[in-house]
Amino acid sequence: MRDPLIWERTARVAVKSRTAVAPCSTANLGPGYDVFGLALDALKDRIKITKVSAGGRKIAIKNSDQAIPAAAESNSAGLVVKRMMRDFHVYDDVEIHVTKGVPAGYGIGSSAASAAAAAIAFNALYNLKIDRNRLVEYAAEGEIASAGTKHYDNVSASLLGGFVIGSKGQFIRIEPPRDLFLVVAVPISMHVPEKKTEVARSVLPKEVPLTSVVHNVSGAATIVAGFALRDVEMIARGIDDVIVEPARKHLIPGYNSVKKNAVSAGALAVTISGAGPSMIAFLKTRKNANKVAVAMAKGFEEAGVKSRTFACRPSSGARLA
Ligand code: HSE
Repeated sequence: MRDPLIWERTARVAVKSRTAVAPCSTANLGPGYDVFGLALDALKDRIKITKVSAGGRKIAIKNSDQAIPAAAESNSAGLVVKRMMRDFHVYDDVEIHVTKGVPAGYGIGSSAASAAAAAIAFNALYNLKIDRNRLVEYAAEGEIASAGTKHYDNVSASLLGGFVIGSKGQFIRIEPPRDLFLVVAVPISMHVPEKKTEVARSVLPKEVPLTSVVHNVSGAATIVAGFALRDVEMIARGIDDVIVEPARKHLIPGYNSVKKNAVSAGALAVTISGAGPSMIAFLKTRKNANKVAVAMAKGFEEAGVKSRTFACRPSSGARLA
C-alpha cells in the first residue's frame, strides 16, 4: 500500500520533467587522492528526468552515447535516481535522458557529471529540498557504476563547483583563484577498459611508507593553502604525488613525455586527472595554454595515441537547465 503522504506529494507535483547540467571535473590534484576535486568548464553532461506514469518504479535510460550502460543498475544517473526513489518513497516510472558531453572512462569525471546532474534534477522534480551536502552523498552513489565503490571527489566538485575538499559527510568548497588555468589532454584513441576506475584503483599499494605519507600530506596542505590564499604558484608547488601516481603511470602511454613537454612549454605542474588516463596541467594565466596543449598532445602522439586537449578554467557547479 502506498503511504498516503507520499502519494499526496507525488500527485501534487504538476511538473513532469526537470533537466540539469553538470560540468566535468578533475580529482586528486596529485596528493589529494579521493579528497580533492576541481570542477572544470570544459565539457558538460545534461540529464533530463521525466515522470512517465505512476507505477512500478521502472527507470528507463535513454542515452546519447551508446557506450554508456542502459541498465539503471550500471548507469551512474540510474543508480542515483534508484537510490533517491527508494529513500523518498517515489513510486513513479521515470525516464532519464542522458546527453553526454563528457567522454566516459578518461578520468575527467564523466560518471560524476551524470550523477550530479541526476541528483539535482530529481531533487527539483519531486521538490525534495535536499541540502547540497546530502545531494553530494546521493550523487556519489553513481560512482559505484564505474569505480565499484563510492568516492566523493569528482561528484562534490561537479555538484558544488570550484575546488572541493571532501570526504563522507563534509564538503568544503573554496572559490579558485581567477588566474588559474588548466589544460586537460584526453587520449581519445586509447582503449579504456569498462570499469576503468575500478581497474586503476586495483593497482594501488595497500600499504605505503610513512615518508611518502608525509610528502603527500605536505603537498595536499600546500594545495589547500594555495586555494585559500588564491595563489596559483603555491597550488602548483603542492602537486606532487609519490603514492598514487607512480603506481598508475604505467597505465598511461606517453605519461613521461606528456609531463615533460607540458612543463617545458610553461606548465607549473602536471598530474594524472583522477584515475587517468587524461593528464592535466596547471597554469597561471591563459598565455601559455595553447603551447602547453600542443606540447601535451605531442607527448601522447609520441606514444602513438591521439588526444583532444581542452584549455579551461574552474567551473561553477551543477544547475537546473
Ligand atoms: N579519486 C578517484 C581515483 C578518482 O583516483 O580513483 C576517479 O576519477
